[in-house]
Order: sequence, then structure tokens, then C-alpha cells
Amino acid sequence: MTKFDFSNRDSFGSKFGVIAAAAGSAIGLGNIWRFPYVVGENGGAAFLLVYLFFVISIGIPVMLSEFIIGRSAQRNPVGSFKKLAPGKPWYLVGLMGVGAAFMILAFYTVVAGWTLEYLYQSIINGFEGKTPDQISKMFDTFRGSARPIIWFLIFMLFTAGIVIAGVKNGIEKYTKVLMPVLLLILVIISIRSLTLPGAGEGLRFLFHPDFSKITPKVILEALGQAFFSLSIGMGTLITYGSYINKKENLTNTAISVTFADTFIAIIAGIAIFPAVFAFGIPPASEEGLVYITLPVIFEQMTGGYFFSLMFFVLLSVAALTSTISVLEVIVAYMSEELNITRKQATFLGTASVAVLGLFASNSAAVFNVLNFTSATILLPLGGLLIVLFIGWYYNREKVKSEMTNQGTIDVWLYKPFMFLVKYLAPIAIGAVFLYGLGIF
Ligand code: PFF
Repeated sequence: MTKFDFSNRDSFGSKFGVIAAAAGSAIGLGNIWRFPYVVGENGGAAFLLVYLFFVISIGIPVMLSEFIIGRSAQRNPVGSFKKLAPGKPWYLVGLMGVGAAFMILAFYTVVAGWTLEYLYQSIINGFEGKTPDQISKMFDTFRGSARPIIWFLIFMLFTAGIVIAGVKNGIEKYTKVLMPVLLLILVIISIRSLTLPGAGEGLRFLFHPDFSKITPKVILEALGQAFFSLSIGMGTLITYGSYINKKENLTNTAISVTFADTFIAIIAGIAIFPAVFAFGIPPASEEGLVYITLPVIFEQMTGGYFFSLMFFVLLSVAALTSTISVLEVIVAYMSEELNITRKQATFLGTASVAVLGLFASNSAAVFNVLNFTSATILLPLGGLLIVLFIGWYYNREKVKSEMTNQGTIDVWLYKPFMFLVKYLAPIAIGAVFLYGLGIF
């Protein structure tokens, strides 16, 4: 079998393409589906504050560390650690990331499948004339049927189709145009939500912190959500970093992506919570929150049919640009390390995820275990090891050279970044783990 030709690796074509692809990975169901329900379950504004603190103090440094690792090594996560730390066990961090990728893809694609069902319902006007209660029942009935499995498989096939086409042709193209449109639609939905009677209560829930709500579990969930939403801690951005050309400013890219991701999550919160309170939907409605609340808002909106349709199309695309990035981790690993072709790797990866996903789709217990273990445990653990690698193991001069593009650009953030990856981020992640898991 021929060896993978590393001199001929794919890469992103333009500056905007890089940001778009990384933002496309970050922005997805994590912002619009997971963020609101985790905020709802964890008491609202106080959770949001902790979340924002983690995004800035831990999220940006981990993201930048991943870009640095990926771009210096030009490999998949496992290959990257093998190349930068030959003969050392660091490559296990990459392997753990590949494991997390399987788990995330399995349950995430299930939720992406739900989005397709809601798109279908929007087309046939299935929410027409229904009360919030009926819409809530619709979600339960749907989940109990065989339909989620079919949508899940369809979504997996879409993802695989684009990944086979390769990074540049596949991934960049879709994200560039559609993310800004998604933001626009979210803003329009927020306006409708904010003008509902009783909307103020939702804003208070989201922005007026009650610090007594902060518990170890809330802090741990906030950390997990930050990692999940930013697509960090499992090598997705090592993989994308490896496709970034040497002229891009990695620091700016990490900051822009983090900013865009956080902005979209907050706007999603503003779209959801006023309506949740206005219609008396329980904020802790778990995974169903968004799929219940949004159709209820669309029912109350002039042009609701159109907005519902647009929204679910865009949410499906946002989910797709994220599933692509997760499958890419698996495919890059298999094709570069196991020496099989990209096509074979995509086929194998997709088939194994499909098996796991069937269980996730059928059983709420499997779904929840995959969701919790990957986001709340594996990603922060991966993130901890990644910052330790950059802060304590990898050569400082090489880090600096990668951040400054071999000394050609001035990056004043180098020192604060080193402080964060050496001390603050590892201590914070470690403490949250011990505290959140009740060990300390
Ligand atoms: N960040 C994505 C979202 O918020 O929807 C989900 C995700 C993608 C998580 C890629 C992890 C990952 F590696």
C-alpha cells in the first residue's frame, strides 16, 4: 500500500476561509441547541458568567495551542504529537481526541437529524395551529418513533459526502456565506421573542445572576460547554490548524472564532429565554428545549412559515459544518496514520459512528452518557493536556516562532498567552475537575 503523501496535503485557500472553517466547526448545535438548555438546567445568568470567564481564560489559550500544534506539525492530532514529541506518550492525547470524536459524532449527528425532521415539518407546515403543549408532545412522539434513525443516517451520509471531497472543496465553501445569514435570522427571531408579553422574565433569567445557583456541578458544566462550543480539547483545531498556511495570524484567528461563537450563543439565548418564560415552557426542558420553544415562536410570528424554514435550513448547515470537522479528525487520523485512502477512512469512520449512533438515537441513557462523557470529561481533560504540552513541554522559541510567523508579525499577546497556558488554564481546569467531580 502506498504511504500517505505528506508533501501533497490539502490546505485552506484564503484567510476568510480559515476563519470560516474554524468558526463553522465551532458554531453549531452546541450554540443553538446545547447552550440554551444547559443554561436553563444550570440556573441562568450565574452559569453564563462562569461560562464567559472560561471561554476567555481557558478557551482562547486552548484554541491557540491547538492551532500552534497543528500548524507546526502539519499532521492529524496523533501524528502531530508523534512528530513534535517523538518517542514520548503525548500522542495518547491525540488518540483520546479521536475517541472523543467518535463519541461526539454519534450523538451530535442524532440531534442534527432532529433538525432535519424539524425542517421537514416546517416545509409541510406541521406546527400550524398547534399549542405549545401540542408542540412539546410532538417532540416526544417524534423521539419515540423510528424517524430519528432515518434522519440520523441521512445526516451521516451528507457529512461523509463532503469529507470525501476534501478540506478545501468541501468545508470552506459552505461556511463562508451561510454563517452570517444564520446570525441574521437569529436576530430576527430574538426581536420577536423579546416583544412577547412577559419576555422580561427571560432576560432577567439570562442576565441577572443569582450567585447562590453556582455549585460545583454548575462550574463543571460551564467548563464542558465552553470546550464543546469552541470545538476544543480533542484535536479538531489541531487538524484544522494543520491546514492553515504559514502566513495567517493564529492569535487573531483564535480570538475572532471565539468571539463569533460566543456571540451566536448569547443571541441564541436571547431568542430562546424570553419565549420560554412568555409561554411557560420549563427552562430545564433538557434536550427538547430548543425544538419546543422555536416552533412555538414561529407560530406567533408574522412570516413564521418562512422564518422557520430558513432557520432549520441554516441550523442544519451549521450542524453540518461541525459534523464535518469532527469526522475530519477521524479521517485525517486514519488516512495518515493507518495508511488507508481518504475514501476508505471516511467509509470506515462513518460506518463505525453509524453503529454507535443507532444506540444513541434509540436510548436516552446512551445519548446522555456520550454527551456528558465527551463534553464534560474528555474535552476538558484533552484541553488540560494540550496546554500542559505547550506551556511546559514544547520549546518556547518554537511556540513564539509559530505565533509570530517566524518573527514577521508582532504578537503582544505572547506573554499573557504563555502565562495562561503555563499556570492559569491548567490550574483552573484541574481545580474545576477535582471540585466538580466531588474529589475535593
Ligand atoms: N462546537 C460544535 C458546536 O458547538 O456545535 C460541536 C463540536 C464540533 C464539538 C467539533 C467538538 C468538536 F471537535
